[in-house]
Amino acid sequence: MIRPRLGWSLPRVFAHRCGGALAPENTLAGLRIAARMGVRAVEFDVMLSADGSPWLVHDERLERTTNGSGWVCETHDARLRTLEAGAHQHPAFLGEAIPTFESAALLCRQLGLLANVEIKPAAGFAALTGEVVARQVRELWAGAELPLVSSFSEEALLAARAAAPELPLGVLYEAPPEDWLTRINRVAALSLHCDAECLDDSVLSGARANGIPVLCYTVNEPLAAEALFRRGVMAVFSDRIDRVRDS
Ligand code: G3P
Ligand code: MG
Repeated sequence: MIRPRLGWSLPRVFAHRCGGALAPENTLAGLRIAARMGVRAVEFDVMLSADGSPWLVHDERLERTTNGSGWVCETHDARLRTLEAGAHQHPAFLGEAIPTFESAALLCRQLGLLANVEIKPAAGFAALTGEVVARQVRELWAGAELPLVSSFSEEALLAARAAAPELPLGVLYEAPPEDWLTRINRVAALSLHCDAECLDDSVLSGARANGIPVLCYTVNEPLAAEALFRRGVMAVFSDRIDRVRDS
C-alpha cells in the first residue's frame, strides 16, 4: 500500500488550535502568535457552514468561542463573517473573526507555518467535510508542501482520500482501538494521533514496527513532553507553546 508521505520532517511541537492558549483558539491571531513564538507547525480544526464552506471552528455550536449561538452547520457564511471570536479569550483580542479555511491556509503559507488540518465534521456531514477539505487543501497548498490532514472520523478520511489521493493523512483517536493498524491501512494514513493519557507501549511498539509516527495531544508540561519523546512519540500538540518547545 502506498501511503502519501509528508514533504517535510515532523517538528516535535504543533501549536494546538493555531496559537494554543496564547490566543483565541482557531484564529488568525493564533497563527501570528505561533509564528512569532518560533513554532514551526500548527494544528487547527475545520468544519462546514450551512453553505458547505469550510471555517476554522472546533465545536459544533458557536456559543463557547464566539458571540454567536446555534449550530455551525446551520449557520450561513454571511452570519459567520459577522461573528466575534476573540473576546472570550481576552479583551485585547476583541474583533478577531472566525477565519475561513482559505484565510488560514494563506496565512500559514505567508508565515511559513507547517500545518495539520483536522477535519472536524458536524454530525451527519463527515463525508462532505472530508471531501471539501481535501479539495481545498489541494488548491490552497498548490505548489507548496501539503499539510498533514487528520480526523477522528474514518468516514471523513475515506472521503478525503477519494477526493485527493495524494494527501498525507493522520488517524485520530482518544485511545487507539485494538485494530488501529487495520484502520490506518484502510485509509493509507501516514500517522497515528492520540490522547497522550491513553497511549500504551504496545501501541508504540506496533507503530514503530510498522514505521507509523505517533503524535499526541494535548501536552502542556515540558517534562511530560520529554517523557513522551523518550518513549518514541514523534510530536505533541500543545496549548503552551511558550513552555513546550521544539528544541
Ligand atoms: O488534532 C489533535 C487535537 O486537536 C484533537 O483534539 O478536540 O482539540 O480537536 P481536539
Ligand atoms: Mg483539533
